Amino acid sequence: MFLKTHDDVFASRPKLQVLKSIYNGKKGIAFTGYGQYWRSVRKLCSQQLFTVSKIESFAPSRKDVLTHFIESLKKAATRKEVVNISKMVGNLIEKMTLKMILGPVERYEEFKLQELIEELTNLVGVFNLADFVPFFGAFDLQGLKARTRTLGEKLDKALEMIINDHQQQKQDDFIGTMLTELNKQMNPNGDIMDRYSIKAITIDMFVASLDTSSTTLEWALSALIRHPRVMLKLESELESIIGKRMVEENDLPKLEYLDMVVRETLRLYPVAPMLIPRESMKDIIIDGCYISKKSRVIVNVFAIGRDPNVWSNNVEEFFPERFINSNIELHGHDFELIPFGSGRRVCMPREEVRVNHS
Ligand code: HEM
Repeated sequence: MFLKTHDDVFASRPKLQVLKSIYNGKKGIAFTGYGQYWRSVRKLCSQQLFTVSKIESFAPSRKDVLTHFIESLKKAATRKEVVNISKMVGNLIEKMTLKMILGPVERYEEFKLQELIEELTNLVGVFNLADFVPFFGAFDLQGLKARTRTLGEKLDKALEMIINDHQQQKQDDFIGTMLTELNKQMNPNGDIMDRYSIKAITIDMFVASLDTSSTTLEWALSALIRHPRVMLKLESELESIIGKRMVEENDLPKLEYLDMVVRETLRLYPVAPMLIPRESMKDIIIDGCYISKKSRVIVNVFAIGRDPNVWSNNVEEFFPERFINSNIELHGHDFELIPFGSGRRVCMPREEVRVNHS
């Protein structure tokens, strides 16, 4: 109801205290309130970053990283070594994603970006009293201010160096592309794409992309390990359609069972089980309930995905076949399955790449 009928009212985001000092007063995209600035940044991202050609241009680098990942798994298996699959999957996604966002990630090892991003994700996810009772902010009862300040300084130092690097040597990654817009006016309001905006958008990309992708992959792997029947069926699809070679990205539309496994994973284990909080932009009455402007709305996608009235009585079971002949997709239009959100604030790569493809 909130997203389907009243998305226009609930398309804003509440301000998160922790991000205030990390952003240095600027705004990014995922955690920024609805308005001209957000619209311009979203437009820029959709027209220049999440285009099919841009995403495809990173395919060779994704393949390189994946090949390396598989080789190291094979080696470990031959030596009968125990591996920490969560850590390996985390590294895999991080390498793929950071290459796309900031390019030659090995050059920035000294900044320990992995640790910074982990701390950032933890801070954004933490329940912060000051977000609900701003009065408590001054006392910093949870010690978040100090952590945020330290993290903000470290991130800023790293991003300054990365941006300088990109200014000296033109690159095609997200930061390089955003720099082509540096100091240009984005809209009639006079918003400018300056260094601070680029840093804030990059920080949002870190938070929005890394943990979400690696956790989804981890859930999918663990569901397959716990359901050998599904694993065997998936293997036989791969053998009959792909054979012995490695799966390429353009094979994906042919792999119907894999697609069902992905949908089933995201139904049972949505990595953003409450989406990213929304905030109402005006007073509204829904189903007789008065909701005042600036109310925070949390959508329980986890509960929707496990609602027996929607998914029948085997709702808790990992059963990809439920999607046979089903037209329930992940695009955000089928409200029984919205792990990427919906409407104006739907996850960006999901929406843009789909729209550009069709
Ligand atoms: C499995 C992977 C992912 C999942 C499950 C996921 C999920 C989500 C969700 C639930 C939202 C909030 C939607 C809403 O409020 O309605 C969101 C927003 C967003 N996501 Fe993703 N996401 C994923 C991957 C990514 C990646 C790889 C990127 C970028 C490289 C990304 C960038 C964004 C951005 C920029 C937003 C904010 C959109 C806005 O507020 O206007 N996401 N995502």
